Amino acid sequence: MVKEPILAAIGAGIPIHEARGHMIVDIGGGTTDVAVISLGGIVASTSVKCAGNAVDYAITDYIKKTFNLSIGEKMSEEIKIQIGSAVPIEEELLMTVKGRDHLTGLPRSIELGTNEVVRAIGKELRTMVNAMKDVLQETPPELASDIIDNGIIMTGGSSLLRNFPELVFRRTGVKARLGKDAPYCVAKGTGEALKHLDTYKKAIIAKR
Ligand SMILES: Nc1ncnc2c1ncn2[C@@H]1O[C@H](COP(=O)(O)OP(=O)(O)OP(=O)(O)O)[C@@H](O)[C@H]1O
Ligand SMILES: [Mg+2]
Repeated sequence: MVKEPILAAIGAGIPIHEARGHMIVDIGGGTTDVAVISLGGIVASTSVKCAGNAVDYAITDYIKKTFNLSIGEKMSEEIKIQIGSAVPIEEELLMTVKGRDHLTGLPRSIELGTNEVVRAIGKELRTMVNAMKDVLQETPPELASDIIDNGIIMTGGSSLLRNFPELVFRRTGVKARLGKDAPYCVAKGTGEALKHLDTYKKAIIAKR
């Protein structure tokens, strides 16, 4: 068993062995992993089965319920990436969404705006942010100030959702930012750990 949050942290360039505390969040397709790391170990963590895929399903669901329109699997992900956002925005992005009318079976298209997507995925985003809040609340007070100073580091493909760090800040009061090359942090961290196995072995292998 390999500790993925540690790999993500290494990939994001976090000095995992220092005594300071760092909070890392890896939001992928299936899972959101949250961990506070200090002295090469995980101090507090949680994992929820809610991430990018759940966001896609929520969009599909919303469009079906609201417009009686069935859309393909790829379409919901495209909507999320092209016009989606974690918080409402003033100058909404718009997209023509094509699908099949649920009642007539005929092809039909609708116009969809960003803020409608924000509403459609609100519940899923809340689940992810609540996981972060849970871990913050479990974090020992002596590490809290480090996390305030460093901010929450977000990695994984779904961290790229527009304005996600802003939502995390609004809900937790802690600054959040994307790690460098956020979608590739786990892969980069794995490479880095293998290259310096002596340094990282203890930190990345979970005892069972
Ligand atoms: N620009 C973007 N905006 C929003 N979501 C995105 C963006 N680019 C990719 N994603 C989402 O990122 C997810 C994939 O991320 P990632 O590659 O980190 O997942 P994974 O490691 O395969 O999954 P897991 O960690 O859950 O096993 C998909 O849900 C994809 O839709
Ligand atoms: Mg992943």
